[in-house]
Amino acid sequence: MRWGHAAAWPARLVDPDPTTRLVLRPMAVRDAQEWMDVRTRNADWLRPWDATAPPGAEVDGPATLKRVVRRLLRAADHGEAMPFVIEVGGEFAGQVTVNSVVRGSAQSASIGYWIDQRFAGRGLMARSVALAIDHCFGPGRLHRIEIGIRPENSNSLRVVEKLQMAEYGYAPRYLHISGAWRDHRLYAVTVEEVGPGGMLGRLSR
Ligand SMILES: CC(C)(COP(=O)(O)OP(=O)(O)OC[C@H]1O[C@@H](n2cnc3c(N)ncnc32)[C@H](O)[C@@H]1OP(=O)(O)O)[C@@H](O)C(=O)NCCC(=O)NCCS
Repeated sequence: MRWGHAAAWPARLVDPDPTTRLVLRPMAVRDAQEWMDVRTRNADWLRPWDATAPPGAEVDGPATLKRVVRRLLRAADHGEAMPFVIEVGGEFAGQVTVNSVVRGSAQSASIGYWIDQRFAGRGLMARSVALAIDHCFGPGRLHRIEIGIRPENSNSLRVVEKLQMAEYGYAPRYLHISGAWRDHRLYAVTVEEVGPGGMLGRLSR
């Protein structure tokens, strides 16, 4: 367990607005089957935005069931990630993962996310990401959070727009997504930019 991580993980984050019935909780191995079921049902919805393994990259097998979940949980144990399941009214609705946690003089991380199409369009991802970032800046003691988005992903661009995150750069061929190296627009927020209401306070309901 790395310095600064123990106070932040594992954690359960509850939306203070009870009408959303939104909770972020740690992913567990027992989620593997449901994770796979939801992702199979949403394959067409997720495929254009899903991370893929570049040729020659070392992977421990296909991205299925327990393998992906175990990889995430291992990263969490090492203080490198916080993999949250999004629950809506107790149902598995998606995932928000704080990735690439760097400590030392950086204190930074990036966030990735997806939601079951059945729950899309309710503003739930902006609230989920806001909860996660507020947690990172609070107990997680991180300083900077980054989100990279493909320029074609208009739905995801709306999420960072709602969160009023600043666009700071453009990274050509940044990540291997849906089978090829894809350009990304880069957004970030540092703790100093966030007011007393936190990131959640930036979202009106
Ligand atoms: C990006 C994503 C997480 C947004 O989650 P969300 O909770 O639906 O976000 P919002 O409710 O704020 O909706 C964002 C936009 O998506 C569009 N949208 C909403 N519901 C939709 C639906 N059922 N189908 C398609 N698009 C929809 C709208 O343009 C909406 O913008 P608006 O609120 O101004 O109308 C979700 O679309 C998703 O999981 N997409 C696939 C995976 C992905 O792209 N992950 C992010 C990679 S960077």
